Amino acid sequence: MDQYDYSKLKSCGENVFISGNVEIRRPHLITIGSHIAIDTGFYCTVGAQLGDYIHIGPYTTIIGGAEGFLTMGHFTTIAAGSRLICVSDEHLGAGLVGPTIPDGFKDNLIKKPIFIERFASIGTNCIVYPGVTLAEGSVLGAGSLLNRNTEPWTIYVGMPARAVKHRSQLMKEKAKALGYNL
Ligand SMILES: CC(C)(COP(=O)(O)OP(=O)(O)OC[C@H]1O[C@@H](n2cnc3c(N)ncnc32)[C@H](O)[C@@H]1OP(=O)(O)O)[C@@H](O)C(=O)NCCC(=O)NCCS
Repeated sequence: MDQYDYSKLKSCGENVFISGNVEIRRPHLITIGSHIAIDTGFYCTVGAQLGDYIHIGPYTTIIGGAEGFLTMGHFTTIAAGSRLICVSDEHLGAGLVGPTIPDGFKDNLIKKPIFIERFASIGTNCIVYPGVTLAEGSVLGAGSLLNRNTEPWTIYVGMPARAVKHRSQLMKEKAKALGYNL
């Protein structure tokens, strides 16, 4: 199976698999830890910092361009088909919308990084808005839209996402056994 040319990245740890069928527009802005899998169809235009033990499922999209940024802590996941928006036009009518509009005619831009803290997970086909933090251990259920920060170790579902239940913190013990005292 074709693999991505890791030498293009700003830095990259050990035991990393990135499919050859990805489009990473700004690899010099991407820092990757160890024990990582990034599956086919991944499309990323922003800078990013990834910790260890991370999975990004197929056809995930991280958009926002050179001014966007995504941080993923250790033991985090994004499932297939999710869309994370780090920079967006405001869409409230202040200007013309889209990246090809010249300066002076553009809409206001919302530029806010996304943080996925350690142990947090995003289910399949989710949408995450600029500036959102998924707090430690929180989960976004499949098909949900997240436009607000989450509380730690809490599960959110729906469009827009709302908290539905708490999550066990047993993962911390498993991580400790793997050598991560988080
Ligand atoms: C969010 C999730 C973790 C909750 O799992 P769970 O605790 O077993 O689910 P429950 O059935 O107890 O759900 C609690 C409530 O939320 C609802 N719910 C669960 N997942 C939902 C979702 N994705 N969207 C909307 N509502 C959802 C349930 O219907 C239930 O509502 P009710 O109390 O009115 O009946 C799970 O539903 C999910 O989305 N997992 C992600 C799956 C995925 O994308 N995997 C990717 C590959 S690993």
